[in-house]
Amino acid sequence: MKYYTALELVEDGKPPSFDDVLLVPRYTEVRSRLKPCIQTSLGSGLYLQTPIISSPMDTVTDSTMAISIGSHGAMGIVHRFMSTEEQSSHIKRIIEHNQNISALEIQVPVVPAIGVGDDERDRFFKLYKEYGLNLTSVAIDVANGHSSYMREAIKWVKDITNGELHVIAGNVATGLGFAFLSESGADAVRVGIGGGSICKTRIMTGVGVPTLASVADAYSVKRGCESYNDTAIIADGGIRYPADLVKSLAAGADAIIAGRIFAGTIESPGEIVSINGESMKTYRGMASKEVQDDKRGGLRPGTCAEGVSTYIPLKGKAYYIVDEFCGGLRSAMTYVNANNIDELKDNALFMRLTSSSLEESHAFGTKK
Ligand code: XMP
Repeated sequence: MKYYTALELVEDGKPPSFDDVLLVPRYTEVRSRLKPCIQTSLGSGLYLQTPIISSPMDTVTDSTMAISIGSHGAMGIVHRFMSTEEQSSHIKRIIEHNQNISALEIQVPVVPAIGVGDDERDRFFKLYKEYGLNLTSVAIDVANGHSSYMREAIKWVKDITNGELHVIAGNVATGLGFAFLSESGADAVRVGIGGGSICKTRIMTGVGVPTLASVADAYSVKRGCESYNDTAIIADGGIRYPADLVKSLAAGADAIIAGRIFAGTIESPGEIVSINGESMKTYRGMASKEVQDDKRGGLRPGTCAEGVSTYIPLKGKAYYIVDEFCGGLRSAMTYVNANNIDELKDNALFMRLTSSSLEESHAFGTKK
């Protein structure tokens, strides 16, 4: 049988999707599922207790989501599709939460998303002037981060903050894009284009790379040059199951960003609606027609929607999802003899699947 490390998957040339691979169990001395440490580094001294981040989307992350999952060791990035004043009030709420908890509780990361260009520079300037280093990081959030305008935005953030604030930048889909953002000063890079469950980019443009392939590509570049060592890789788009989190980390990611798994939870922004008697919440791509209609008065002439809008049945609390994903991750680490995320990357061996082996991977013969 042929097994592959993440770097060998890249050398092999066939771009892997999540469903194309499984991790191979190996001899282990990690007996208890409670033993593995799942703390992760997001670069430049920023650590998360769990490698899970909720996406800066208007149906996923505002302060309620950030506080809920942040209190469980994850991180929520407060979306930017609102006025600076409104975003500022969400940031303020998180900071006040942190000021009012006991020393035993987890400090919630305070991370606003911003865009690029002059208006977004003003947004950032106001937020930083108000909150300074009470901010944990800032996420510069654009569709194609492998761009001159992203490099400029990283520069103005670094200039305004004297290089003191952690910066997440993205998205990119290749090792070259990762290297570009690392060299431009990003501390963590969001990797994945077109893989999100509400994305239409690949269909509308023919552009994109499977998220797992992008992650492995970025990781091979990172491993190839010491100066990229401290830049974190965040897999973004297409995370459905705990297995996708595990495969992302094993392929080189330091954390994942997800929208869908948190959409429809109690904490996600948006009204609960009843459709055919079922309680639902909207989940929509930030490049969908619905968002353009709401925020910009419609699609700009000559452009097209690159996202879709859908309804998600109401789920429980978001932090249950964090706990479930962490449970799957810890269990995976016992199978591959990993005490921590670095060992998971070092020990992981992938096997490529056939379509019938993928089908066998899901539970079957169960009651509907
Ligand atoms: P999931 O799979 O969790 O993916 O739903 C969320 C990620 O998808 C990206 N995103 C988009 N990509 N058009 C796109 O092509 C969109 O409208 C869109 N909205 C979000 C984003 O990276 C997010 O984290």
